[in-house]
Amino acid sequence: MAYYLCAGSDLQESGKAVCFRVMTARGPEPAFAIRWRGQVYAYQNSCAHVPVMMDWQTGDFFDLSRQYLICSMHGAWYAPDTGACLGGPCRGAYLQAVPLTEQADGVYCGWPIEADSIQLP
Ligand code: FES
Repeated sequence: MAYYLCAGSDLQESGKAVCFRVMTARGPEPAFAIRWRGQVYAYQNSCAHVPVMMDWQTGDFFDLSRQYLICSMHGAWYAPDTGACLGGPCRGAYLQAVPLTEQADGVYCGWPIEADSIQLP
């Protein structure tokens, strides 16, 4: 099953994220989708250091170099394609990936999306 998230053009290269809430076993939880090096990726919006949302402004996850996802709380930085923490207080830990695929008519999430939770950039 796949759940429509957004148009492919809503995810610009190393740009602002599409934010949404995915349904998990624990209930709806915040997540975000980004595009990096042409591919789309999504993760739960919860730092591997302390489980807080990472964006300092909604949808702003990339650092100034546009090469890493960064947590605004204590500065951990993550690889956009794997979610691996490459530096900071939780180095070696991972963001929780959310399955995402891009098709001709849009970007789809493999997990159910909470109704009316999608925030486009
Ligand atoms: S909560 Fe993200 S680096 Fe500490």
